[in-house]
Amino acid sequence: MCAVPLSLKAAILLGVPEILNEAGPDAKLTSEEISKLIVSPGGTSADAENLDRLLRVLACHNIVTETCVAACPSNPQATERRYGVTPVLKYLIASNETGMSLSPLFLLRTDSVYTSAFQYLHAPVLDRNAEPFVIANGKKIIDVLETDSRLSELFDTSMAHHTHMWVSMLLETYRGFEGLTSLVDVGGGVGANLAMILSRYPDLRGINFDLPHVVAKGIQSPRLEHVAGDFFQSVPRGDAVWMKWILHCWSDESCVKILKSVNRALPPRGKLINMDSVLPETSDSSVETQINVCADMLMMAANKGGKQRTLTQFRKLAQDAGFSSVHLVATVDTLSVLEFHKG
Ligand SMILES: C[S@@+](CC[C@H](N)C(=O)[O-])C[C@H]1O[C@@H](n2cnc3c(N)ncnc32)[C@H](O)[C@@H]1O
Repeated sequence: MCAVPLSLKAAILLGVPEILNEAGPDAKLTSEEISKLIVSPGGTSADAENLDRLLRVLACHNIVTETCVAACPSNPQATERRYGVTPVLKYLIASNETGMSLSPLFLLRTDSVYTSAFQYLHAPVLDRNAEPFVIANGKKIIDVLETDSRLSELFDTSMAHHTHMWVSMLLETYRGFEGLTSLVDVGGGVGANLAMILSRYPDLRGINFDLPHVVAKGIQSPRLEHVAGDFFQSVPRGDAVWMKWILHCWSDESCVKILKSVNRALPPRGKLINMDSVLPETSDSSVETQINVCADMLMMAANKGGKQRTLTQFRKLAQDAGFSSVHLVATVDTLSVLEFHKG
């Protein structure tokens, strides 16, 4: 049922996570109290009763806490519901230290361009060339992002926030950037990945590579250069290449072309450090696998030929692109780092 994600989306748009957070870790607010803090675009006051209905959905799914208390001491039957933050909600609230959260990614994934594409998941089963996103929106996501500034802004922001959160966790344990002097981020968006990595490695120089309209919005950071281009043609040279969330957007054939461009840009014995989800060979009911297979449906809906892959499938791509080996070297939550080595 779409009511749960879309109720959460409504709460984010209304600023409810921030309102609960600012009230403090132990605060429990009624919908009446929350509604008074909602800033409505037209200056009208928010409807507390409808807000309460929305919050009950979130409470039933442990996204907010709900405490029932007597509303009036003289009438113990009359109760009121009070709501508070949960650890899950914290992921949707901008961190005090970094300003990052998963809210932009959640708003992106629940945008109507994606939810409309999900109406057509049956289409690529009936015809493997069918593209749900194109059926729903009339063009490919990459073409929408080039012209729709609202969606493009949301896309770039959500990638930058997600990257900041996941790459900072990776940098706690992964040591594969040590000893490098230059690192190229292929499909690096506005450069958030590299800015994070360079901040930990003062001797490292970074080249952020993406499409022209994306690098035009590139962030400015010490030792970070932006280069525009097309990874199907070529990518800039560097000691090593980093990629995050690129291969799952593309078909096997396209991935081999991208990987061949990367291979050509690497020195002998160079490596590609690739961060992506690795699908297990068999299904299970763990949260990680549930997220992974649902992300696979997102890829089927949004990108022709896009898919989550098993380690065996990554090894086949690497072999077809001329890499000598692939090693799974780190895992952060649902994302893994695979090093593709050039012989
Ligand atoms: C899913 S996003 C990942 C962004 C970033 N790596 C991250 O994880 O935050 C895919 C990126 O690939 C870029 N891209 C798509 N086609 C490209 C091409 N032909 N050449 C270079 N970059 C491309 C997109 O503009 C986008 O920034």
